[in-house]
Amino acid sequence: MLEIEGLHKSFGGLDAVKNVDFSVRQGEIVGLIGPNGAGKTTVMNLISGAMKADKGAIRFLGREISGLPSNKVCRMGICRTYQIPKPFYAMTALASVTVSVINGGDRPNMSLFDAAFEASYYLEFVGLFAKRDILAKDLNLYELRMLELARALATTPRLLLLDESMAGLNPGEASLALDMIWSAQEQFGITILWIEHVMKVIMAAAQRIVVLQHGQKLMEGTPSDVINDPRVIEAYLGGRHVVD
Ligand SMILES: Nc1ncnc2c1ncn2[C@@H]1O[C@H](COP(=O)(O)OP(=O)(O)OP(=O)(O)O)[C@@H](O)[C@H]1O
Ligand SMILES: [Mg+2]
Repeated sequence: MLEIEGLHKSFGGLDAVKNVDFSVRQGEIVGLIGPNGAGKTTVMNLISGAMKADKGAIRFLGREISGLPSNKVCRMGICRTYQIPKPFYAMTALASVTVSVINGGDRPNMSLFDAAFEASYYLEFVGLFAKRDILAKDLNLYELRMLELARALATTPRLLLLDESMAGLNPGEASLALDMIWSAQEQFGITILWIEHVMKVIMAAAQRIVVLQHGQKLMEGTPSDVINDPRVIEAYLGGRHVVD
């Protein structure tokens, strides 16, 4: 579904992403992990069209998408969430998701009423329907992360890019969020590329994991290949085991 080849991005003298290759097959959950500053978010920015690659190919469903603006990439079926939630703080939860419904699908003739109706469905799905009239600025972090998910799902993506959806959540909330992402995958048939620092979560969720370090791919494999790989253990913890 997604094929990345020789991807490269530098900022001034810093090579944030260096010659990275990997692919994501339809229906998979693929984890993208690596220490802070490894280049994970930059890879996601390049895929989603938020930034332009210096070199390399990004193919989605057989089409080259590298260099396309993010609204086009979104309409082709790739949507993302942000490491730091980026809601419209002065909008209600319902209005925010309605904007995604209208902008995400290519449905110029859709009425506002229909869009709000559809948005309500996504809010209900993530458990936020009761908070539909609350301004995003008054939601807590878990609710903001669920709002991000609802906004992403409302664009009807085929590939969902998640950037640290669990960051800052307590273990109970993280477990709820994981169940939510699993049910989203099942219900909407989406494929997921998932950046995650919470190792237990990504080990449980992903079928395959790509490890980045200093902008380069260190390895890829199944979760058990990854946690047992001495290079990964070294990269993360200087030799101590990755999962406690
Ligand atoms: N817009 C930018 N301008 C300059 N440097 C940047 C920019 N974005 C990222 N970088 C640098 O590129 C490198 C990779 O950053 P990136 O955010 O992709 O890492 P990450 O793996 O997502 O890290 P984290 O786990 O901390 O989120 C870092 O050294 C970062 O400082
Ligand atoms: Mg990041």
